[in-house]
Amino acid sequence: MKVTCVVGSARNCGSTAYLIDAMAEAMTGQGISVRKYCISDMKIQYCLGCKQCYLDGKCVQKDDVAEMVACILDSDYVVMAAPSYWAGVPGQLKTFFDRNTPYGDTNPNRILQKQKEIKGIAIAIRAGTHAEENELILNEISHYYGHLGIQTVKRISICGVDCLNDLLQKHPEAIQEVVQLGQHIGEL
Ligand SMILES: Cc1cc2nc3c(=O)[nH]c(=O)nc-3n(C[C@H](O)[C@H](O)[C@H](O)COP(=O)(O)O)c2cc1C
Repeated sequence: MKVTCVVGSARNCGSTAYLIDAMAEAMTGQGISVRKYCISDMKIQYCLGCKQCYLDGKCVQKDDVAEMVACILDSDYVVMAAPSYWAGVPGQLKTFFDRNTPYGDTNPNRILQKQKEIKGIAIAIRAGTHAEENELILNEISHYYGHLGIQTVKRISICGVDCLNDLLQKHPEAIQEVVQLGQHIGEL
């Protein structure tokens, strides 16, 4: 089984990364092959809006997007986690979504698409306390999954986390939830 994890935060060492790492460790412990991408470590240029990809299914820009998408589409599960930035996903992740236009189901000439069932898990984290805002983040990730033919099977929302210490001290149950999810991911 292959799982691709995406840390959708501007920081590769914060709460979002901690949750992904905890889940990834649980999965590798089950013998699952895990590939992790931190969006902030990747070279991802803005979409130019040229729509050349509508003609040939390819992006005119060469950076890390194609490798990431190929890995996602070769997975059995995708885990994507993002913090709320102004009630949306961070710009780095939004830019990645924009650059998936060659691979989405609205592209009439896409040449790369899923060849098997892929299941997706979405995780949202925010500093504020109302869960409604996290639903916006989860909807964005699910929307992305939908256009790639990835079925969202689990949505996790964590509120009241402004820094890693908040997560560690106030939300051990959230860490436990993602660890258990990693241990039982094949059952989803
Ligand atoms: C630029 C920026 C914008 C943010 N906007 C919001 C927001 O609109 N709502 C909220 O609840 N938290 C907001 N936060 C707080 C983050 O969601 C919170 O600190 C999160 O735990 C950061 O995750 P990380 O440790 O993975 O970076 C914002 C943080 C930053 C840096």
